[in-house]
Amino acid sequence: MISLTNTGKYVIIQPLAEPEIPILTSELLKCDRLINHHQLLYLQCEGRCFYLIAWDGELPVGHAIIYWDSDMAPEPQAVRNLHIPRVEDLWVMPHRRGEGIASKLMDCVEAITKERGFPKIGLDVSLSNHLARTMYEKRGYKNLGIPAYELRGVSVVNGKEYFWCEPNCIFLIKSLSAMQK
Ligand SMILES: CC(C)(COP(=O)(O)OP(=O)(O)OC[C@H]1O[C@@H](n2cnc3c(N)ncnc32)[C@H](O)[C@@H]1OP(=O)(O)O)[C@@H](O)C(=O)NCCC(=O)NCCS
Repeated sequence: MISLTNTGKYVIIQPLAEPEIPILTSELLKCDRLINHHQLLYLQCEGRCFYLIAWDGELPVGHAIIYWDSDMAPEPQAVRNLHIPRVEDLWVMPHRRGEGIASKLMDCVEAITKERGFPKIGLDVSLSNHLARTMYEKRGYKNLGIPAYELRGVSVVNGKEYFWCEPNCIFLIKSLSAMQK
């Protein structure tokens, strides 16, 4: 998908391809983003996720992951029971924020999810992440209404384990049925 951002620049948003991993790794490491891109590519090849990268020319400027089922998710059972696709790791390079890149990534996420026939999509957001919450609410995401929860996990990058923890998360859902094609 080719998208025009607020600054009049074009970004191309597409699922990760293997030859892109070295440049993606080196550019994201400059921003201390430690992501196991090979593992995500493997999950994408298995049909379990879509790892979308936004490119400005040769450079990655943001990413988002769509997991097609919430059954293996680290969220509470009430979320896993929904069996709906989830967006994870929506992120934009710090020096490219405010240009509309996350909005374009979310447009792409929602369009692909709808095209695949899913009526809903969901995501976790931290209660303290006011900027992201505002963006999601503007896009029509609604709080599922379950009590706030903590997300924890471990990422293995280059053989090293990195533990992460996100306290006070809520789950937001959007109905895609009213969305125009
Ligand atoms: C949240 C994030 C993805 C937004 O990326 P972005 O490309 O800057 O977002 P956009 O430019 O598309 O703006 C989307 C909306 O965010 C809000 N927003 C963006 N920049 C803003 C700013 N400086 N001040 C206030 N609101 C802002 C607005 O609601 C905006 O919608 P609008 O353009 O209709 O007003 C980015 O800040 C980021 O990567 N943050 C760290 C990771 C993160 O928190 N991810 C979300 C996890 S749930």
